[in-house]
Amino acid sequence: MNPDSKNKSKKEMENERLEIQMLLEAIHQKYGYNFKDYANAHTKRRLAHRLNISNMKNYAQMMHRIIYDEDFFNILLLDLSINVTEMFRDPKVYQKIRQDLIPLLKTYSFIKVWHAGCSAGQEVYSMSILLEEEGMKHRSQIYATDFNEIILKKAKDGIYPLEVMKTYTSNYQQSGGKKDFSDYYTADYDNVILRQSLKEKVLFSSHNLVTDGVFGEMNLIFCRNVLIYFNRQLQNRVLKLFYDSLCPGGYLCLGSKESLKFTDVEDKFEPIAGREKIYKKKRLS
Ligand SMILES: C[S@@+](CC[C@H](N)C(=O)[O-])C[C@H]1O[C@@H](n2cnc3c(N)ncnc32)[C@H](O)[C@@H]1O
Repeated sequence: MNPDSKNKSKKEMENERLEIQMLLEAIHQKYGYNFKDYANAHTKRRLAHRLNISNMKNYAQMMHRIIYDEDFFNILLLDLSINVTEMFRDPKVYQKIRQDLIPLLKTYSFIKVWHAGCSAGQEVYSMSILLEEEGMKHRSQIYATDFNEIILKKAKDGIYPLEVMKTYTSNYQQSGGKKDFSDYYTADYDNVILRQSLKEKVLFSSHNLVTDGVFGEMNLIFCRNVLIYFNRQLQNRVLKLFYDSLCPGGYLCLGSKESLKFTDVEDKFEPIAGREKIYKKKRLS
């Protein structure tokens, strides 16, 4: 079936739904990644995009390719996981963390921060910079996880294209950064290499939010721009995981289009900054 054809009949649409279902089942069985609870519209859009640019006639052909060609699957994995990110993305979020959360987190002798769905690490290094500037780095541990090993390797490297530095620098300045942003990297032809010291307190590891378990006693969890790709059932599973991973009074930071409204944990958190999507886990009364 050609996903491009407009005005599909009901029967064609049902067949396409079936083909996609079988394709996701093949991915799950062969590679262990379960995309069945990702938002339908997102999965459909990403698969159709790959089909259109890969000279394949239909999803049945694509399924064959997925089973027999691991390199193709890795490309598709990047399509499905969407790795778009920036350093100090949504600068006001970091400003809020600096102004409102850091003074409270400073009252702890040690803090643990988890970036779930960290992509190529930009969010992680932003936090590492912030903690360093606030004199908190030496008593912090950052856990940075993603389910995509290829992107996780990029995160560990901390090497980014020079061309994005203009945006990152502007974000950093808007977020209340205290230094010259170029202090944090060295230029190397078309790339920049982040300073080694920013990695000192970071542990990168593979973690799949669909299947893996809790991280204990976190003070702050970032999971930004990940839940939007999940259906409601999976969002609830993951939010329960975060609830269980946070210490009482711990903070959860979501993406700009995400919220706890109408989720199973809505009444277990108190909104701290509505626009910045920062929530605090309620202490049991
Ligand atoms: C759009 S990026 C968001 C990156 C960063 N948090 C930000 O807001 O800039 C989404 C990330 O979530 C990761 N992801 C998607 N599904 C996941 C899952 N089931 N478990 C862990 N990470 C996942 C993707 O690999 C991707 O790196």
